[in-house]
Amino acid sequence: MLAGKHILLIIGGGIAAFKSLDLIRRLRERGATVTPVLTRAGEEFVTPLSVSALAGQRLYRDLFDLGDEAEMGHIQLSRVADLVVVAPATADLMAKMAGGLANDLASTLLLATDTPVMIAPAMNVRMWEHAATQRNLATLRGDGITVVGPNDGDMACGEFGPGRMSEPLEIVAAIEARLNDGPLNGRRILVTSGPTHEPIDPVRYIANRSSGAQGTAIASALAALGADVVFVTGPADVPPPSGVQVVRVETALQMQEAVNAALPVDAGVFAAAVADWRVTSASDRKLKKSKDGLPMLEFAENPDILKSVSQMTQGRPKLVVGFAAETNDVIENATAKRLRKGCDWIVANDVSPATGIMGGGENAVTLISDDGAEDWPRMGKDQVAKQLAARIAEALK
Ligand SMILES: Cc1cc2nc3c(=O)[nH]c(=O)nc-3n(C[C@H](O)[C@H](O)[C@H](O)COP(=O)(O)O)c2cc1C
Repeated sequence: MLAGKHILLIIGGGIAAFKSLDLIRRLRERGATVTPVLTRAGEEFVTPLSVSALAGQRLYRDLFDLGDEAEMGHIQLSRVADLVVVAPATADLMAKMAGGLANDLASTLLLATDTPVMIAPAMNVRMWEHAATQRNLATLRGDGITVVGPNDGDMACGEFGPGRMSEPLEIVAAIEARLNDGPLNGRRILVTSGPTHEPIDPVRYIANRSSGAQGTAIASALAALGADVVFVTGPADVPPPSGVQVVRVETALQMQEAVNAALPVDAGVFAAAVADWRVTSASDRKLKKSKDGLPMLEFAENPDILKSVSQMTQGRPKLVVGFAAETNDVIENATAKRLRKGCDWIVANDVSPATGIMGGGENAVTLISDDGAEDWPRMGKDQVAKQLAARIAEALK
């Protein structure tokens, strides 16, 4: 619920501005007051009348408006809210924010505000992936701005990929988590999840049975406590949670790259079942049966993502949590793994087929830390996630 909360909503000039009309409605349904600001470009996509009527509030558009300035100066306007939300945050608005420009009402408010800021980026995939936008994103994160999304998906421009604005309800969930004074507010946490797929040829790959359910539940539980979660996921069976930044990858090498791009973080939870090996030179053509005999596959070792983050000499997350999926001597193997990798905690579980844990809805874990091994009773993966998220919040205090 957002009863009594005040949101200053800045609507930028992107196609996704139409979704902000629904966002206003959803926020008001939950009891929030929404003061809208529409940029000049934003007016090309939604009408001032729709925005103002849905918000039930006066709309602010111009920096140099004599009436507005007399009634509520732009400095005051920047500070009336509990949270400033920019949705859609266009590439242009992000660049202005990162550069500290103040040449229109929206950018001036964003520079003058002393309240927390959240952005929901929305743009064409090439614009999103451009080095300049990624630099600006890193700057904004460094400035403490919460970033929601963007999601992968079909775009209005006909392309596919990351850049689609998060859905209104995902933004609402992120706003609720940010405003409801969760213990992880202001903390940035990386969660990896799911299996990796290591290609053999264009149609075959090596995979494992990880469903991604436990990692997804953990990301969701962390976001519910207010964390700004970057969720790096392999091809999982379950959909990613809402209210987190989703980065989809396929292979271990791509996962390593995504993890490095997400740093620095306050904590990293490495729940993905990353393949230990990849095929050295995956064929770019489908392998055919041949009378010359069976194909020979050569393997190379994949990077050890958990170990490399655990052993960072600079900028290491304060807390690094690894997972150990074992089929025998669970505690012994997991304890050795913790020391070998250098992570702070290992969440160990027995994934032998008889347990039904891999791909199932429950988990029975042992948390191994400097304090020893702590057995948790068998419970739903959501429950394990909530308990782990609470422990992480405690550790980051
Ligand atoms: C049809 C159309 C759609 C656009 N969609 C987007 C978009 O989704 N994201 C974006 O960053 N820019 C988009 N642009 C470009 C922005 O409108 C332009 O950069 C503008 O200056 C942004 O203004 P703002 O800073 O007020 O958001 C689009 C432009 C056009 C003509």
